[in-house]
Amino acid sequence: MSCLAARGNPDALLICNGYKDDEYVSLALIARTMGLNTVIVLEQEEELDIVVDASRRLGVRPVVGMRAKLRTKHAGHFGSTSGEKGKFGLNAAQILSVVAKLKTLGMLDCLQLLHFHIGSQIPTTALLGDGVGEAAQIYCELARLGAAMRVIDVGGGLGIDYDGSHSAQTDMSVAYSLEEYAAAVVAAVGRVCDRKGVAHPIICSESGRALVSHHSVLVFEAFSASAPGRIDPATGYLLDELTDDCHADYRNLMAAAVRGDFDTCALYADQLKRRCADQFKDGVLGLEHLAAVDSLCEIVARGMGAAEPPRTYHINLSVFTSLPDMWAIGQILPLHELPVHGTRGYYLGMFLGGAYQEALGGLHNLFGGPSVVRVSQSDGPHCFAVTRAAAGPSCADVLRSMQHEPEVMFEVLKQRTDGATAAALARAFGAMPYLSFDPEAAAMASGESSGMSSDSEGSAAGAAEEDDDEWEFMRGLTV
Ligand SMILES: Cc1ncc(COP(=O)(O)O)c(C=O)c1O
Repeated sequence: MSCLAARGNPDALLICNGYKDDEYVSLALIARTMGLNTVIVLEQEEELDIVVDASRRLGVRPVVGMRAKLRTKHAGHFGSTSGEKGKFGLNAAQILSVVAKLKTLGMLDCLQLLHFHIGSQIPTTALLGDGVGEAAQIYCELARLGAAMRVIDVGGGLGIDYDGSHSAQTDMSVAYSLEEYAAAVVAAVGRVCDRKGVAHPIICSESGRALVSHHSVLVFEAFSASAPGRIDPATGYLLDELTDDCHADYRNLMAAAVRGDFDTCALYADQLKRRCADQFKDGVLGLEHLAAVDSLCEIVARGMGAAEPPRTYHINLSVFTSLPDMWAIGQILPLHELPVHGTRGYYLGMFLGGAYQEALGGLHNLFGGPSVVRVSQSDGPHCFAVTRAAAGPSCADVLRSMQHEPEVMFEVLKQRTDGATAAALARAFGAMPYLSFDPEAAAMASGESSGMSSDSEGSAAGAAEEDDDEWEFMRGLTV
C-alpha cells in the first residue's frame, strides 16, 4: 500500500509476493490501472485461481510471476526455508500445472517472471551461482513452454559482513563483495540462457538487509558496571574460626599456593568454597566466614596469575525490543563507543540494525522502545540534518499496549496521595526509559550507589572517584 502512494519510475517493478487473498490480488490489479508495474508472484498453486477470478471481475489483465522452490539448499542459520522441503514456492509439478492452466485459459503471455529466494546471508558466490543457475534453467524451460518470460527475480540473500571477518565460516559474514555478488548472478544467468538460446532476461533482486541495514544505529547508555570483589585483609582472623575440615582445606590451599601449584590450588579452593557453602546452609558458618573465604580464594587466584573474574556491565537496552534478527539470539551487530561532548555518560551505538531489528522487536518485556531521530545527509558545514525526532513510548503507553488503563490507574493512585506525590506519579507515567535524563534520579544514584552515575555534568559533581575507574573499565570494553 505504501508503494501505491509512492511516485516512482513507471517502469519499476512492483513485485507482489507473500501469501495472497482476493483483497491483495485486487489491489495489485487496480494498481496496474494506475500505471504501476505490479507483478503478482504466485507462492502457491491455488493463488492462480484467485488471480484469474479477480482479473476477470476487474477487467484487468495480470502480469504473473512464480516463485520456484529450488533444490539448491542454503545450509546456514538463515537457510532453513530453502531446499526441496522448504515451505515456500512451487515445485516442478506445480510449475507445470500452472503453465498448463494458463495455457488453457489463453493467458500464458501473462506469465513473465520467475522468482526464488534461498535465504538470507547467502555465504558464498558458489552457492549463489548454484541457485541462480538452477533458477535460470527453470526460466529457460518456461520460455520453451511458451511463457512470455522477461524477468528473473533472484530474491534476497545478498549478505552483510556483520562481524567483519569477510568469511563464509560464520552466519554473520559473507565471503564476497557487492560486485562479486552481482557478477556471480549475471554470469550464472548468462551461461544458462546462452546454452539454451534464450534471450537474456531483466535481472532484479529483492535485497533487504544489504540495502537497509546501514540506515539505523541504536544508541544506548551503559549505566553501571559490577565492581570486582573487594578483599578485606582485616577479616583474616575469621579463617581461624573455620571448622576443622574447612581449616584442613585452607591449609592445603595455602601449601599449594606456596609451591606455585595452580591446579591443586584451584582444586582446594573449590572444595573449601563448597564445604563452607554447605556449612553455611547448616547454620554452622556465618556470612562473614563465607565472605572471608571468598576473599581468600580470590587473593590466591590472583596471586597465581588467574584471569580477572568476568565483569557485568548494565546497559539501558532491550535486546528483544530493539535488536532481534531471525531468532533474536546469536545475532552479532557491530558495537562502538560514541563520543559525547560535555557529559560524563558512556554511550554505545549498535550499528547495522536497520533491516529486521526495527520491525521484529517485541514488547513482551515491557521496556518500551527508543526515541527515533531521523538524520538525513545534507550540504553544509555539518553535512547532515535532523529532520524528525519522535519520543519513544512512555510508561503509560506501554501499560496501554498491555490493555491496562493508565489514566484510570493514575486517578486511583492520586486519591491516595498528596499533591507532591501525585505530581511525581504523573511524571513516572509520562517517563520513557531510554536515554532520558532525570537530574533528580542521577543525583540520587551518584549519592547512593557507586555504579549508578548518569549522563550530566551536574550529576558528576558528587560522583566518587571509583565511578571514574568503572567508566575506564567500560571504555576498555569497547570493541
Ligand atoms: C521472498 C524474500 N525476498 C527477499 C527477502 C530479503 O532477504 P535479505 O534481507 O536476505 O536480502 C526475504 C527475506 O526473508 C524474502 O523472504
